Amino acid sequence: MPGSHINQNKKLPSYVYKSGLGDFFLRSFNKIITNAEFRHDLLPMVARLLDSPFKKTFHFSELEKILKFHDNSMPIYMGSPFMLAAGGNKSGKNLNHFHSFGLGAVTLGTATFKPWTGNPYRPRVRLLPKDYAIINNMGFNNPGIEQIAYAADFHLGRCHRQKLAVGISIAETPDIEPGNHQAKIEDLLKTFRKAYRAADYIEVNVSNPISEETRIDWQKDFLKNLLAEIMEFRKALVPRKAVFIKLSPDMNQSSLDATLEIISDSGVTGVVLFNTFPVNRVQYLNMQTTEAQFPQVSKDKKKGGISGRILYKNTLPAVTYIRKQLPKLTIIASGGVDHGAKALELLEAGADAVQCLSVMAYRWNAIHRLEKELMAAMGQKGYKFIDNIVTP
Ligand SMILES: Cc1cc2nc3c(=O)[nH]c(=O)nc-3n(C[C@H](O)[C@H](O)[C@H](O)COP(=O)(O)O)c2cc1C
Repeated sequence: MPGSHINQNKKLPSYVYKSGLGDFFLRSFNKIITNAEFRHDLLPMVARLLDSPFKKTFHFSELEKILKFHDNSMPIYMGSPFMLAAGGNKSGKNLNHFHSFGLGAVTLGTATFKPWTGNPYRPRVRLLPKDYAIINNMGFNNPGIEQIAYAADFHLGRCHRQKLAVGISIAETPDIEPGNHQAKIEDLLKTFRKAYRAADYIEVNVSNPISEETRIDWQKDFLKNLLAEIMEFRKALVPRKAVFIKLSPDMNQSSLDATLEIISDSGVTGVVLFNTFPVNRVQYLNMQTTEAQFPQVSKDKKKGGISGRILYKNTLPAVTYIRKQLPKLTIIASGGVDHGAKALELLEAGADAVQCLSVMAYRWNAIHRLEKELMAAMGQKGYKFIDNIVTP
């Protein structure tokens, strides 16, 4: 696992939080509405319900963040360092209401060029409460880049007024013949062009565990060519916008180092660390849920990816390691952030912002509470503003 040799003995603080009435309600809701994908799909509706024309979303001005980039991409203005990770709003629906969660950015998608229904089997999402984790095997279900880019474009002004940046995550359409790299690159470039016009930043998802052996990050030459073509393509586009590459947490040290070299040579703006952890390598995660208790997410044996609390022990050392290797690269940390103190640790380790998703299934009013915890943790360390945080 990346960076697992670093800080192995570092004792992490216990990230304790009190459960409130809202958490009790959420747990009961999870028990009553057992279909986790249905609950997940309610997120845009919840965003809308929380938003009200009479209530302005409250942002701590101390947490406002401007992401500036080494490659002179346009800065991104965010009301908070917490970004919604890809998968939280797959279609762009009710995007203009997502500021009500307290977020500083929303990553739409993952979008493919054509609309895609995803894995035909059900269920495709399950909660693993012992580990505060989620298994997801939805398989890129999305309405296609046309619709997602339209939603981003349509709502961008309102989102910006609410200090909410908008990104789009993209990936290759899954029906392209696995070995046809040129077709995949052309497909991705078409999707990239549409996403680029509409969003503040683009995330290229090269690490979807559902793609298994056809995962782009496993094919270093392919990854190199893809990034070279994307960067060449971006040169001709104005204004310059940030491009992030989303990596997988299951790389070993040599694979991670090789990937970092490609990323550094390509000149992309930054990385998102990480995607979900492939379920078929679950033995590396040391989970509370035993393999016998592991639910088969769907019948087609493509077991998908794990997210949630269990990933954090990998996210933090990886951020520390990559910041040291590539000091200028923008790092967005993602994986197991379910407490504001973790966000501070990641920012201190060199992350520029933090993405989360699974915490919203386990904590009521999650992002607002993470912000309060982050403020408290910053206070203890004497940081008044987020930009005061001392980074390596
Ligand atoms: C239900 C669900 C759907 C997801 N869909 C996507 C996706 O479409 N694209 C992607 O890049 N990541 C997707 N992810 C991964 C998240 O973006 C994130 O990287 C991962 O869950 C780790 O963060 P977390 O521990 O805060 O959830 C999904 C995760 C979940 C739980």
